[in-house]
Amino acid sequence: MTSKDHRIAVTLNGAETELDAAPYETLLEVLRREQLHGCRESCGQGVCGTCTVLVGERTIASCIMLAHLADGERIETVEGMGTPGDLSVVQQAFVEHAGFQCGFCTPGMIVTVTQLLRENPSPTDDEVDHYLAGNICRCGAYPEIRMAVRTAAARLRGEDV
Ligand code: FES
Ligand code: FES
Repeated sequence: MTSKDHRIAVTLNGAETELDAAPYETLLEVLRREQLHGCRESCGQGVCGTCTVLVGERTIASCIMLAHLADGERIETVEGMGTPGDLSVVQQAFVEHAGFQCGFCTPGMIVTVTQLLRENPSPTDDEVDHYLAGNICRCGAYPEIRMAVRTAAARLRGEDV
């Protein structure tokens, strides 16, 4: 295998780029090396959702995806969804409703909720719970998270809330 085989070409948060990615490295390891620390490792087994990113239009546990499988894909992390001075609608709703305590799960939650609302602008509470089943909040901030999702969904539909 040549050194060229250790690079992948991706669109990362809107920018075309090449990343070093050894054959055994996970997407999580590669993204964190790029200083994208919003994706975090907790379980490391694809169970908890703290490492969630979008690959194409799929929510992916980046801790169990080999980085080279993302070659040619469009990757979106929480850093691409908003900045401290320009929060996304979902991020702003999480802040307003305090949809977190320690915040460790929050970036993964934001990524998943962002994709949920792209797919389903008016989710029911059951649909929210089902979609977020792969994102665990050990602090139990679920009631506030649900309120944040409702507010973000309403605003994205153009409602004044
Ligand atoms: S760290 Fe990836 S799912 Fe838990
Ligand atoms: S806010 Fe602490 S794990 Fe969710």
